[in-house]
Parts: sequence; structure tokens; C-alpha cells
Amino acid sequence: MSVGRSVPHESAHEHVTGRALYTDDLASRFPNLLHAWPVCAPHAHALVTAIDIAPALEEPGVVHVLTKDDVPGEGDSGSTRHDEPLFPGEVMFHRQPVAWVLAETLQAAQRAARRVKVDYTPLPSILSIQQAIDENSFLTSPLRLADGDMSALDESPVRIDGELTIGGQEHFYLETQASIAWLDETGAMSVHSSTQHPTETQEIVARVLGLSANHVTVECLRMGGAFGGKEVQANAWAAIAALGAWKARRPVLVRLTRQLDMALTGKRHPFLARYSAGFSNDGHLQALRLALFSDGGWSLDLSEPIMWRALFHCDNAYHLPAIEAVGRVCRTHKTSQTAFRGFGGPQGMLVIEEILALAARRLGLAPDVVRERNFYCPGHTTHYGQKVDGAERLGLIWNRLKDTSDFEKRRQAIAGFNATHLHEKRGLAITPAKFGISFTATFFNQAGAVVLIYRDGSVQVNQGGTEMGQGLYTKIQQIAASSLGVPLDRVRVMSTRTDKVPNTSATAASAGTDLNGAAVADACAQIRSRLIEVAAGACGCDPSAVVFGENGVLAAGMSVAFHELCEMAYKCRVPLFAHGFYKTPEIHFDQASGRGRPFYYYAYGAAVSEVEVDGFTGAYRLLRTDILQDVGDSISPVVDRGQTEGGFIQGVGWLTLEELIWDDEGRLATGGASTYKLPSWSEVPDRFEVEFLSGATQPGTIGGSKAIGEPPLMLAISVREALRDAVAAFGDEERVTFDSPATPERVFFAVQRVRSERHALP
Ligand code: MTE
Ligand code: MOS
Repeated sequence: MSVGRSVPHESAHEHVTGRALYTDDLASRFPNLLHAWPVCAPHAHALVTAIDIAPALEEPGVVHVLTKDDVPGEGDSGSTRHDEPLFPGEVMFHRQPVAWVLAETLQAAQRAARRVKVDYTPLPSILSIQQAIDENSFLTSPLRLADGDMSALDESPVRIDGELTIGGQEHFYLETQASIAWLDETGAMSVHSSTQHPTETQEIVARVLGLSANHVTVECLRMGGAFGGKEVQANAWAAIAALGAWKARRPVLVRLTRQLDMALTGKRHPFLARYSAGFSNDGHLQALRLALFSDGGWSLDLSEPIMWRALFHCDNAYHLPAIEAVGRVCRTHKTSQTAFRGFGGPQGMLVIEEILALAARRLGLAPDVVRERNFYCPGHTTHYGQKVDGAERLGLIWNRLKDTSDFEKRRQAIAGFNATHLHEKRGLAITPAKFGISFTATFFNQAGAVVLIYRDGSVQVNQGGTEMGQGLYTKIQQIAASSLGVPLDRVRVMSTRTDKVPNTSATAASAGTDLNGAAVADACAQIRSRLIEVAAGACGCDPSAVVFGENGVLAAGMSVAFHELCEMAYKCRVPLFAHGFYKTPEIHFDQASGRGRPFYYYAYGAAVSEVEVDGFTGAYRLLRTDILQDVGDSISPVVDRGQTEGGFIQGVGWLTLEELIWDDEGRLATGGASTYKLPSWSEVPDRFEVEFLSGATQPGTIGGSKAIGEPPLMLAISVREALRDAVAAFGDEERVTFDSPATPERVFFAVQRVRSERHALP
């Protein structure tokens, strides 16, 4: 059985030898290729009053400059609202492209772009959440979730009120945005795109060119990382490449450099949270009033469902007897913020963890005790009316992890360390995570697959999910091999193409395997039952007597190898291919009432982290992290481990290192790796233990497995909480907090604040 086995990533060998191809690597296959480069606006907000392309056309090697006059269809790449003009009359963020040069070389395109003459009338810009609130600049109306009796807030003996500012995050996928488009011999458009959502890229290319969808084919070989940043944000570049190819009748490559990618593409949403929470004296949360504001940037993008997910996850793992939560997306003159691993969930969860941590110190209780007291128990429902299935796993994970991480013993040891060290303090924290799995827009929760078996018994699998390094293809290969009873190397997973499986959903919401894996299994099951009929016919036995095993069947004492069976089926004129389909059952959600079951299930996990903070500098080290994650029955343990480690470290980056800074003119000041600090080997905990919950079969999912792509990111909250614990040890301040990310700088100033007069540095 391939499912459940630790196999290497299906492209591991290609990744490490450099043979794995990415969109941009295909450029050499197009001898006639043109390069596209944008003319970028020097203002965060301005009107474009005139564009003169004539000087640029004089530049040697320039073929054309694309402007709105070249668009045969609709010149907009906005995915939800059509609010992203490809050639804007009003510039909405600094460096927004207003025209695109097509040239024989990249250098020629870049030189010519500087010669396009654009006149602007600068306008005032909105550059912060607070400014957007003050100026009533929003992309959505308020989204609300409410439950219970809010009078409990005023009646609570303990009140925790405050505000938390949460920073965004740059995706920093290693492969920047890229697309190649060309016309085939029939005049139809073909596109290679580094996109998580080939179907949507197809739809938008078709819209821009005024073509029907069957005249556009989009293919994604694989992505060098996406993390949500290519869920909708790959579309604009594919649209420009396609428009260029349409106009010039030659293949066109759009590939953003790192700096351009950082300047032009959306990021994780910065958030501002305002909260009032009421607690009982023993630390039970009784009521929560919450206002969430996100910085959506210039266009709507996915900001609305991201805000919904933040609202859905402001409970994290805790029962909220009464809550009133309102979320609003601010419109600012910045890049359009977008999906990023966790999709708003992390921001919602960070707020409740902040509140519980502050409550614990106020009440003089250990934070883990307050957390545990508020856990969901079996039978509880969430603030949107969904029963918390599997809630017992929370306690299971919590207790087991405390045990295996030696939590209590280390807490004592740390107290001893802190008592004897004046200027270095250690901190320890355990935090849980509960993450809802499914797209909250119910209709996205569907998937298709086409499985082809050839007469020699070899298998090709086509399915709608994309590979971004997360191991989807590996799991798909394992699922198909197991379903058909063939060795892994008999199954080839084909690159994702819209002409193989139509109308697919984005590979996102961590549901890639749940959806596409189930569709593949469905197709395989159909073929398998046909093969069983064939075997029964050949052996003259009842189909129920046929045993479908590893590499073939056993029937009436005869064994037939899989490839022989396929040849027999062919001769009997039985089709050796099938299409599979899957839609997630039982889910629904009504936005107006804020009630339903948006998630098919929850993924649970917890982490314990220990840090050491240097009081002189605020620098810290992550000494140890222990993770226990519920992945159900893992389809691919090595892949799941990689996802858990990588997701956690990416979360550590978001919460402790990575800081986006926009200057007063709306320019991204942290526009490259030299100014934007990413986690690397040195930020990996000195000791890193990752385990999966055992005996955790999830009912109703493919192979009893659970999604893993996003949930571990939120375990990094344990690091922020460990930092709080360490900072608190520098003094006896009751309220210990800092904005996110907890950079060394912020930690230093937090230490300064908590050092009382007595402890203060001279
Ligand atoms: N892992 C790698 N290596 N690269 C990525 O881009 N994206 C993450 C996660 N893990 C990502 C990744 C995000 S945001 C999601 S939603 C899931 O993978 C998507 O894939 P899945 O649904 O197959 O888990
Ligand atoms: Mo992931 S943020 O759902 O692409």
C-alpha cells in the first residue's frame, strides 16, 4: 500500500538536481519570445492624464507598448469584483503598472519603459488602517458574527480591554510570478502560469481577450512556492502575457523580478483589533466584543472571505458563551492584500490568544491553566453554530504534549534560571490551534479528476489541484497507486491543465488532497470495479469472489497481473479511463444570519516553545519547540512533517521577524531580502520535535486523513507567547504586551517597559 507510507516528494530528485521545470524555465522553448516589462507609477494615488508611448517605440528592440487601447475584451483582472483595471486611469498604489512594454529582450523592455511619458495628477493617499477608518474608506460593509447574551460583558468581574496591531507578511515564494502565453495554430490562447487556480486564470484571460473559455488553455507545471500569493494574484500577469501574445502574435513572457514582485503583489493583511473581554474570577471567558479591521489595500481581492475566516477563528480553541464580532476591510493605497497561509485565521487566533494571556496575568493564573479552562468540550458549538466535532482531541493533544515536552519540569527549571539571571530571561508557553477545513464559500468544495490507464497497465492521473511544493502530487500518486493496487512508479501525475479537468477550484484552504484526492479515488474505484467484472468474466466466477490486491487480482484460484488484466479489459472493449468527482458533504453557511456549518471538520494541534531573551538588546533565541498535530491517518508522513515544520517556521517569521514598512509616500520600504528579514536556518529551534496524534482516523475523508497545509503556521503563536513569558520575567508589570511582529526591537522596548524602577538598567 502506498497510502500511509513515507515516500519522498514526487519531484524531490528534480528539485535537488535542478531539473524540475518552472514556468520561466520554459522560455527557451519559445524562440520567438517577447519580454514584457511594466511602466510603473511613481505615486501611491494619482490620476493618469496622458500617456505618450512614442519615445519608447524608438528604443531598439521594442515591438509595442500595451495600453488600454489594445484590449479586445474587458481590461480588468479583478477576481471577485471587477475592480482591478489592467491599465488604470487612476493609480491606486505606488508602482502600479500603467502600461507594458513588449520587446525582444528584457533589457530593451526595461529601457523603453523608462521612456514612456506619463503625466499624473497626484492625489492624497490613505496609508494606514487608522487613516482609512477616519476617512471612512472601506472595501466591504461590516461583516458580523454574534452569539449569546452580551450583557455578560458588563457583569463580568474582570475586564480586559485593548488594541492589538498585527503586521502583514510577504509571501516570498522562491519563484516569483511568471507566465508565458502564445497562440496555437488555430488562433486559440495557451498559457503557462505559476498559478494556484488555473481555471480562474483561464477565465480572466478569456475575459480580457473577449474569448470563450474553450479558446483558452492554462497549464501549471508546478510552482516554486505560492502560499496563497498565487491564488488570485497570478491572474494579472497571465492576462498581460496573453494580451501581449494576442497583440504581437508572438509568445510573451511576463516574469516579475523579486523587487517588482514585492512592490506589486499583495501580502498577508495587516490587522487592527479592538477588544473588550469579560472573565470570571477563575478565568472563564464570559463575553467578547471584537472589532477587526484589515488593511485590504487598493482592491477587494479575497479580502472579504479572509475577514470571514478571521471572524470564524477568533475563538481559536475556546468556547465563547457570548460574542459580538464585526470585521471590516479598509481600502488603502497599497498593494491589494491577499490570501496567505491561514487566510485570516491566524490574525483572528492571535487576538484571542493575546486576550487570554493578558487575562491570565491579571488573574495571577498560569496562562496554560486559563487556556485549558476555556477549551471547547464535546457538545459545544461555535459562535457560528457549528458543533465542534472532535473537541476531545484538544485535551488529548494538550495533555500528551505537556507530557512529552516535560512542560511542568521545564517551567520550574526556567523559574530557577530566571531567578539567577538578571539580564537574560527564558520563557515557555503552550498554545493550541483549531483550524476549520473547507472553503467557506461552499461551492468551491468540489473537485474533478480524469484517470487514464493504458493497455500496458501504466496510469496517468489528471486532476485539478496544483503543486506548489506542498506534496499534493505525491499524495495523489499514492492515492491512485493504492486504489488501483499498483506500485507507485506505475502512476504518473500529469501537470495541471484546464483542458484535462475543467471548472476546478483554487488549490487552497489546505483542501487540495481532501478534494482532488477524493475525486481521483472516485475515478480509480470506477475502473477497479470494471476490472473486477472483467476478471470475474474471464474466470467464470462471481465478481464478489474476485480479490483485488497488490498488482493484480486473484479469482477462482487464478492470479492475473494488473497489466494483463488491463489488456484483457481492452480486448473485452471495457473502457480503461474514468472521470471522478467529489463534493464535500454536509457543509453550508448563511452569511446573513452568520450561522451554519462552514467547515467539514477541524484540524487540531498544539505547540510548546521555549525562548531566551537578552534584556540588553531584545535579541532572542528559540531554544526548543515541540509540536503535536492531528493529521488524521497521514497519507504521506514525510510530506506532512515537511508541511508542519515549514508552516511553523513561516509562522515564526510572521510573528517575530518579518516586518513590512510603507513610508509616508506609500512606498514599500522593505522591498527586498536586504530589508525584509526572513526566517532561515538560524531561526529553526535548537531542538525541534514534531509528532502526529496517533489513532486519529478522521471519518469521511480520503484515507481518514486531515489537511495539513495551513494549520501548523498558527502553532507559531507559542513563540510569541513564550516571548511574552520571558519579557514578563524582567519585572512585575501586570500588562505585558507588544504589537506583532515581536521583532527584537519591540521585545527590547517591551522589556524596558516591564522593568520596574527597581529593575531598570542604570
Ligand atoms: N507548502 C509549500 N511547500 N509551498 C506552498 O506554497 N502553500 C500553503 C500550504 N503549504 C504552500 C505549502 C498553502 S497557503 C495552502 S492553502 C496549502 O499548502 C495548499 O495545498 P494543499 O491544499 O494541497 O495543502
Ligand atoms: Mo492557502 S492561503 O489557502 O492558498
